[in-house]
Amino acid sequence: MSEVTVRSALAIEVHGLEKTYDDGLIRALDGVDLMVGAEEFAAITGHSGCGKSTLLHLIAALDTPTKGSIRVSGHDVVHLHHASRFRREEVGLVFQLHNLLPRLSVRENVEIAMSGSRRPHRQRAPYADELLEEVGLGGLSDRLPTQLSGGERQRVAIARALANDPPVLLADEPTGSLDSASVDVVLALFRRLRRERQTTIVLVTHDEAVAGAADRIVHMVDGRVISGDGDGAGAGGLRSTT
Ligand SMILES: Nc1ncnc2c1ncn2[C@@H]1O[C@H](COP(=O)(O)OP(=O)(O)O)[C@@H](O)[C@H]1O
Ligand SMILES: [Mg+2]
Repeated sequence: MSEVTVRSALAIEVHGLEKTYDDGLIRALDGVDLMVGAEEFAAITGHSGCGKSTLLHLIAALDTPTKGSIRVSGHDVVHLHHASRFRREEVGLVFQLHNLLPRLSVRENVEIAMSGSRRPHRQRAPYADELLEEVGLGGLSDRLPTQLSGGERQRVAIARALANDPPVLLADEPTGSLDSASVDVVLALFRRLRRERQTTIVLVTHDEAVAGAADRIVHMVDGRVISGDGDGAGAGGLRSTT
């Protein structure tokens, strides 16, 4: 396989990534290398405080690194010219808490994520309904978030993350507040999105059992990746063809 082919199959490339806080006293990330293949579902796991959220936030361009490089779908995330457009179109974000707006309907919560996108206004509500159908919430669009279960609310948050069809979905402890039945539903949904939408997924979790739902597990300790970083070749490094 040529160098060019290998590169085009990578969704995320992180090299020598460092992030320090408090004038270098806290080294949240201490030289992270990570590659995630296009259409791969990778989990990043490790104990609380090992740097998982910091890494995910940097990949999502929510913060800037102290040192190192990040490419997402070919974009140089450290030197973005249009950071808000990158965050809107290239990555979908899901967090532990769904952060739905309580006074808006489920449909409106998804629709609002399309603000500023190229999708014509008249198509936004129907597309929100389509996305809700896709995450298994067809027919619930007119409800308020309070009228849904915790697992259903998190699926609304996933539909919202898909609002602009990002090639990459980044999830930080997305199952952290869910009961075990809802955890299974959400993890099955991630697997289906990878398969059917060809979405690249990076899921951060401190829970090894949750990480087991992914195709590959990346282990972190003290701001470093200790295994599963993906060398861009072989099992797990690039997407499998199955
Ligand atoms: N804004 C911040 N200021 C100072 N220290 C921080 C900040 N954010 C994270 N940290 C520290 O960086 C380390 C990694 O944090 P984090 O990425 O949140 O870990 P994880 O998500 O794996 O639990 C921890 O020691 C944490 O206390
Ligand atoms: Mg965290």
